[in-house]
Amino acid sequence: MSTVDVFNQIVQQRRSVRAFKKQAIDEQTLRSIFSTALGAPSNCNTQPWLSAVVSGELIETLREQVPAGVMQGEMSMDFPYAGKYDGIYRERQIAAANSLYSALGIDREDKSARDVQFFKNFTFFGAPHVVFLFLPACFVTEDNTGIREAADLGMYAQTLMLSMTAHGVGSCPQTALSFIADRLRKTLEISEDYKLMFGISFGYPDEGHASSHALTDRAELDSLVRFYS
Ligand SMILES: Cc1cc2nc3c(=O)[nH]c(=O)nc-3n(C[C@H](O)[C@H](O)[C@H](O)COP(=O)(O)O)c2cc1C
Repeated sequence: MSTVDVFNQIVQQRRSVRAFKKQAIDEQTLRSIFSTALGAPSNCNTQPWLSAVVSGELIETLREQVPAGVMQGEMSMDFPYAGKYDGIYRERQIAAANSLYSALGIDREDKSARDVQFFKNFTFFGAPHVVFLFLPACFVTEDNTGIREAADLGMYAQTLMLSMTAHGVGSCPQTALSFIADRLRKTLEISEDYKLMFGISFGYPDEGHASSHALTDRAELDSLVRFYS
C-alpha cells in the first residue's frame, strides 16, 4: 500500500467511537501512541498542551465522580460553551445527532432517551482510558489572543486520535468532559495554571455495538476549499 493509501485509510478509519471493549491498552502501546502525537506542529514549537491520561482504578473513580458532579450541578467550564449553532452549522449538528440516534434506534422526539444517551459521555462510553487535554492558562486571555494556542492544542488532539487509529484504538473527543473542570483538576492534582479544553475517551472499539453504525458525512470539497492560482 502506498503512503497516501495508508494515510487516507487512517483518516477515514477515525470516527467517534461511543462503545468500547473493557480490555485495557498495554503501557508500551500507550506510550507509543502518545509519543507519536508529540510530532504535532505548534506556533513557534511552543507545544502548549498537557495530557492527563487516566486508566485503571482512577478511571473507575472518575466514572462515579464525573456523573455525580454533573448531577449535582457542579458546572465549572474553563471554556464556556455557547452550544448554539445557526444555519448550515445547525443543519450539520442535527445531521450528526440524527445519525447517532437512528443507529441506536432512538426517536429524535424522545428527549429522555436522548438525555440518557448524552449522559453516557460522563461515564466515558465505557472506555478503559480517558485523556484530558489542558491548555496552559497563560494562553487563556479575555481578548481571545490565546485562540492561536488553542488551535495548536486542536492539532495535537487530531494527531493523537490519528495515532490511536493507527494503533487500532478508537476514540471520542468530548467537550462534555470539560463540564466539571475544577473537580477534575482537584482529583488529578493539576494546578490552575492549566485550563481544561476537552477530553478524549479511548480504547479498543466495540465494533458490534449499534453506535458504530453512526457515520457522519462531510461537505463537498468545492464548498469548503477554494483553490487559487
Ligand atoms: C472538540 C470536539 C468535541 C466534541 N465533543 C463531543 C461530545 O461531548 N460528545 C460526543 O459524543 N461527541 C463529541 N464530539 C464528536 C463529534 O460529534 C464528531 O467528531 C462529529 O460528529 C464528526 O463525526 P466523526 O468524529 O465520527 O467523524 C466532539 C468532537 C470534537 C472535535
